[in-house]
Amino acid sequence: MLTFALPTGRSLESCIEILEGAGLPINKLKDPGRNLVIDEGSFRYLLSKPSDVPAMVHYGAADLAIAGSDVIEESGISLVELLDTQRGKCIMAVAGTKQAAMKFTGKACSLMGLKVATKYTRIAENTFNSWGVQIKILKLNGSVELAPALGLSDCIFDIVETGNTLRANGLMVIKETAPVSLRLVAGSGAMQLRWRSMFGVVNSIENYVKGAPNK
Ligand code: PRP
Repeated sequence: MLTFALPTGRSLESCIEILEGAGLPINKLKDPGRNLVIDEGSFRYLLSKPSDVPAMVHYGAADLAIAGSDVIEESGISLVELLDTQRGKCIMAVAGTKQAAMKFTGKACSLMGLKVATKYTRIAENTFNSWGVQIKILKLNGSVELAPALGLSDCIFDIVETGNTLRANGLMVIKETAPVSLRLVAGSGAMQLRWRSMFGVVNSIENYVKGAPNK
């Protein structure tokens, strides 16, 4: 049996599309109810909070996973990235009000001590550090767009897909920092011990992803 860790929430639909396209059984997965462990044919699917998916693979609970490149990087866990699925595309960006955007037009030193609200503390710190800027981070677990309006931060660092959440909260992208997409990953242990069993599935997913139109 091969075990996949999959993220719950908005990415799950793309994961199901990929697995179905690759010919894996997904009938129960399409309607999991409150089940977090779903056995179908010779596969087990673990439905995990997106930010926990890398850990599921790292600790050996799953052989393979589909996870956002944002959560993989934020986890700091080193995983074997087998494939960029080209699904779940969005960007990581600094965002804020027009007023905040003005600060980014000057030198890096004018950003020193900037208050940044984010759930991606590691990536935010690394990104600003690479610009020569030390920031103050306000760690939030979601709805980070609230922070500037409440005076809690100068800007936010977050993923942007449609931009609707930013617009609805009077914010705009100030600086795009990285593209994000769903990646097929494995832990190094599973790669060493189970590659023979995983190979066929990885190959089918790759064939599907490369042959099917992107969604
Ligand atoms: C993400 C992200 C933004 C929003 C961006 O949040 O943190 O808030 O999606 O998407 P958009 O550009 O299409 O509006 P998510 O919906 O995952 O919820 P969260 O705020 O609870 O993290």
